[in-house]
Amino acid sequence: MGLFSKDIQSFEDLFMHGLQDLFYAENQILQALPGMIDKAPSAELRAGFEKHRKETEGHVQRLRQVFDLLDTEPKGEKCPAIDGILKEGKDLMGEIEGDDVMNVGLIAAAQAVEHYEITRYGALIAWAGELGRTDLIPLFKANLADEKATDQKLTSLAEKRFNPQAEKKTSASKPKSTARRKTAKPSRAPAKAKRALARKKRAG
Ligand SMILES: [Fe+2]
Ligand SMILES: [Fe+2]
Repeated sequence: MGLFSKDIQSFEDLFMHGLQDLFYAENQILQALPGMIDKAPSAELRAGFEKHRKETEGHVQRLRQVFDLLDTEPKGEKCPAIDGILKEGKDLMGEIEGDDVMNVGLIAAAQAVEHYEITRYGALIAWAGELGRTDLIPLFKANLADEKATDQKLTSLAEKRFNPQAEKKTSASKPKSTARRKTAKPSRAPAKAKRALARKKRAG
């Protein structure tokens, strides 16, 4: 189950572990995305998640092709890292109140997933090269390109939120710009969050 619960004695074992890990992760992400689509208040964010859900189906298929090229049955290895990232995102969604905060929270949660995938694909690409399996690299690179593009799209959505020129829809509670947000009176912060901060201060 964990990295050390089975024997990884060679570079090949390590590569196979990484591949099975990522196969498990992509499948878990595929299951988590519909929940994120449901929760996203922004239509643009929903559309972005839906696009990436379809891409993620393709990621699973490409990893199946990798297993095929290795003459191995596709198999997932439970990955505590992606389980933790997805669980944190799900827990956060359950705790957020308000559309604006939900959009921002979802963007950050989704970027944590993309960054996880980016590091894992980066390692597999390097290891495939080391092992002389350059035939696998284009498949990993195709998935990696989608993850990077998604991450950039999420960054631009987050930035747009703080740019009134780029965001036509505004709400009374939405800060008009980053600068204004920085100078906004603390009293505008949600009372719940303020109480939580005060509790933390007392505890710490
Ligand atoms: Fe992916
Ligand atoms: Fe992804």
